[in-house]
Amino acid sequence: MSEIPGLAHRRAAAVAQGVGGKNIFAARAENAELWDVDGRRYIDFAAGIAVNNTGHRHPKVMAAVMAQAEAFTHTCFHVAPYESYVRLCERLNGLVDTGEENRALCLTTGVEAVENAVKIARAATGRSAVIAFTGAFHGRTMMGMALTGKVKPYKAGFGPFPSEIYHAPFPNELLGVTVEDALRGLDEILTSDVDPQRVAALIVEPVQGEGGFNVAPPEFLKALRALCDRHGIVMIADEVQAGMGRTGKMLAIEHSGVKPDLVALAKGIAGGFPLSAVVGKARIVNAPHPGGLGGTYGGNPLAVAAANAVLDVIEEEGLLARATAIGETITARLTALAARSGHEAIGDVRGLGAMVAYELVTDRSTKAAAPELTGRIVEEAEARGLILLSCGTRANVVRLLPPLTIPDAVLAEGLDLMEAAIEAALPLQRDAA
Ligand SMILES: Cc1ncc(COP(=O)(O)O)c(C=O)c1O
Repeated sequence: MSEIPGLAHRRAAAVAQGVGGKNIFAARAENAELWDVDGRRYIDFAAGIAVNNTGHRHPKVMAAVMAQAEAFTHTCFHVAPYESYVRLCERLNGLVDTGEENRALCLTTGVEAVENAVKIARAATGRSAVIAFTGAFHGRTMMGMALTGKVKPYKAGFGPFPSEIYHAPFPNELLGVTVEDALRGLDEILTSDVDPQRVAALIVEPVQGEGGFNVAPPEFLKALRALCDRHGIVMIADEVQAGMGRTGKMLAIEHSGVKPDLVALAKGIAGGFPLSAVVGKARIVNAPHPGGLGGTYGGNPLAVAAANAVLDVIEEEGLLARATAIGETITARLTALAARSGHEAIGDVRGLGAMVAYELVTDRSTKAAAPELTGRIVEEAEARGLILLSCGTRANVVRLLPPLTIPDAVLAEGLDLMEAAIEAALPLQRDAA
């Protein structure tokens, strides 16, 4: 008998329901495949939400972590520092192009990197306000929620949040929000709501993750850079989901040629071990006084060992080029599918590198969202042995985030399963119409 119903029941009886999500109880995982406690195999197009870019249990990452575990597992960097943390910061400083000398610090989660980037920007400017964008997701702490541009499910019922956060429109070609519209909205905030001289930071995802894989047009990022320069605002790129090679470049913002002041990194940085980092201009990162930044577990030795190995693997296995190739394969498949008659529900295919998504609509001309169909496709995929994630402010986007180490045959098999899931779910959409 399947163990999963019992585990799902125990989960419901023991775990806070606020921690939502699937009931695929993992037993083991290897590269792009995962097996549940019933021995069922899944192809993993979620990669732990863009974390396992180097696959589950990459041998080089595992070996580095095992070796570190033999030496020591925790000292707290504030108490007894270690060379591997320093080396990782040296490497990250070299990878992030701000146009200036960099400094870095390690933390544990993505939202902690975001929080620290805001702290640093406030310390460096002596200002308090922060500009974020509609549809943004920056995490689940109070500041993370305040910056996030989507109420349900992230913010509803949890306020009040830190004040002086302003949301400007994010461009969305599909829904008719042009770059000009978005910049006009930002300008209105700076004329109606807050003096630009009070703004410490502007935080932007070069590709919105949870918001629906909305790619920031390069001209938009360039205009934001110019605005930050004009008013002395610190430009923070939140690369937590889009960074670490996912889009075919180490950072997604590199596609635009824009150099940020600070970057928040996490997820793919350490192949499944909890690590995040803030990297940025030395004159900004060094603004907070000694003792103002850090934490007990920030830059845990096991996670740092994993991150150093992940950086090696990205280079040795050519994963940036691989991300581009994977993205092309997925996009070609989805574009062909969307062009097929009867598949009008696929209203848009978009992304950057191996960060590809498709948006589901009830009507291509009105772009009305089809969240039920989206949920159904995810369920049908799971029933066939494929893990998929949805996203989007209208809950009508399916995002594909396979490990960058996925073999071609497994990628093709996963795409076949996804296509079969779409074919199974579409009649529901047609019946509803
Ligand atoms: C762009 C972005 N920023 C921040 C976060 C928060 O990261 P974490 O869940 O590790 O705190 C996420 C998580 O999905 C994210 O996608």
